[in-house]
Amino acid sequence: TEQDECMGSVKGQLAKLFEVSLKVTVPNEPDVEPLVAACNGKFGDYQCNNAMGLWSKIKGKGAQFRGPPAVGEAIKNNLPTSEMIESCFVAGPGFVNVVLSKNWMAKSIQKMLVEGIDKWAPLLPVKTAVVDFSSPNIAKEMHVGHLRSTIIGDTLARMLEFSKVKVLRRNHVGDWGTQFGMLIEFLFEKFPNFEDATETAIGDLQAFYKASKQRFDADPAFKERAQQAVVRLQGGEDKYRRAWAQICEISRNEFRKVYQRLRVHLEEKGESFYNPYIPGVIEALTKQGLVEESKGARVIFIEGINIPLIVVKRDGGFNYASTDLAALWYRLNEEKAEWIIYLTDVGQQKHFDLFFKAAKRAGWLPHGDSSYPKATHVGFGLVLGEDGKRFRTRNTEVVRLVDLLDEAKSRSKDALIERGKGEEWTEEEIESTAEAVGYGAVKYADLKNNRLTNYTFNFDQMLNDKGNTAVYLLYAHARICSIIRRSGKDVEELKNKGTLVLGHKDERDLGLHLLQFAEVVEEACTNLLPNVLCDYLYNLSEIFSKFYSNPECKVIGSDMETSRVLLCEATAVVMRKCFSLLGITPIYKI
Ligand code: ARG
Repeated sequence: TEQDECMGSVKGQLAKLFEVSLKVTVPNEPDVEPLVAACNGKFGDYQCNNAMGLWSKIKGKGAQFRGPPAVGEAIKNNLPTSEMIESCFVAGPGFVNVVLSKNWMAKSIQKMLVEGIDKWAPLLPVKTAVVDFSSPNIAKEMHVGHLRSTIIGDTLARMLEFSKVKVLRRNHVGDWGTQFGMLIEFLFEKFPNFEDATETAIGDLQAFYKASKQRFDADPAFKERAQQAVVRLQGGEDKYRRAWAQICEISRNEFRKVYQRLRVHLEEKGESFYNPYIPGVIEALTKQGLVEESKGARVIFIEGINIPLIVVKRDGGFNYASTDLAALWYRLNEEKAEWIIYLTDVGQQKHFDLFFKAAKRAGWLPHGDSSYPKATHVGFGLVLGEDGKRFRTRNTEVVRLVDLLDEAKSRSKDALIERGKGEEWTEEEIESTAEAVGYGAVKYADLKNNRLTNYTFNFDQMLNDKGNTAVYLLYAHARICSIIRRSGKDVEELKNKGTLVLGHKDERDLGLHLLQFAEVVEEACTNLLPNVLCDYLYNLSEIFSKFYSNPECKVIGSDMETSRVLLCEATAVVMRKCFSLLGITPIYKI
């Protein structure tokens, strides 16, 4: 399979070697997992931390070793020989430190250049995953929270896809529920020929929602009709289905504009899709004895939590949780997903906690979070305005996402014109660069923070060309490309005929960081933290700057030119992969 062709990360490869050593060193402890971690500089490149823990496990059982350092020494001596390792020594209480071989490092990087960076994809223990993200609600606002969900979700999906996981990108649109009765009745009232009610006729669907809500609250007769409409819609009456579909389609067109700008691809399977599965799922859970009667509703109780999960409302209707149960059932059984990942703001944490616990009680998911299938809620904080409050634009209550993205683009276009690109570049180059920079800046500003923290939306900050911003990173990449161009070398030819060496310390540092790409992506995927990849990317450009600005590492015109151009190319390739995982389009000149 494709997976067998990947070597896995450096850390993973070392772990395999230590695993062999541990089997020989402590044959009576077959279950010890090798603990390998990157470490900084002085003490080698990586270290194995098993000796101390092992010692406390084995010390009573015979006097083969005298203390943890001796265990470390034995682990070191039993390590199989490998071209990866230059030297190995035991330090402190028993850390086994590894210095990687420069030769091997250089060869591995060159091999990546020849075979492509996909060979550096990490190995993950899952084949199929669902990423449930974006998921706005029909006729309601698609707010900045949904923008965060869209951006973070897309990145997680991209990282998993790169790691050879089959990802089902699901837009769990809120397209079902009692509010549709009111919307449909209002539509009939405003547009007797309701099929003519196109987007332009209705105008702002959010305003439409508000107006219909007002009508609903003010007029009991209307309210009555709206409630009837829900029943007729759910009963499948044609006219009502068509009106519903029409309202959904108008909303969908709005959403699509955001997705198009962000180049985010999603497959819509809204709440309505799972509706037919709900009765069967609730029935099965009832048969298992999980569903109880409580205050007229039907609920699932979870040990230790006071408030139960309501699965059938008092009026007999289904709710958000019933839909989520049916969707999870579908994803596990029909789609055979092993990992189901949900993106919403942290405000929904309680819902997901309760709902996952219910699924565990039902035996759908194993207890404990280390085995699969697994469901994970990826929560994120709020987007704040500069006043520290929930982000809003000047006069509207909510932010139109499309306007936000357009503004980012036009601001970066202005910056390009100011830099004099108006004369140098074609209109098309300006447009595409402004787009890459503007949209990239919005995405990166969101992704670089730990997702759980709130973040402040600030155009000036995100479009700054200094500091940890997409602009800085995109320009850094463009500069590397220009170094390569100025060398006049044919990189394709160099890859195969030239030789990359890591002679200078700054070259070796850069090489090591490049080689850590796979384990960083692995960590970002495992913990679902895109900021880990952002940190890596930012550090990469800093480490590259250190190398490039060192006069001892002169690239063009030095006798190490070939090797250093290859190192530049490797940096550019890894940066581009980072951009692509973050959903950012690279630029090649500036
Ligand atoms: N539509 C929901 C909202 O806007 C998010 C849905 C998240 N996905 C899910 N399966 N519950 O809050």
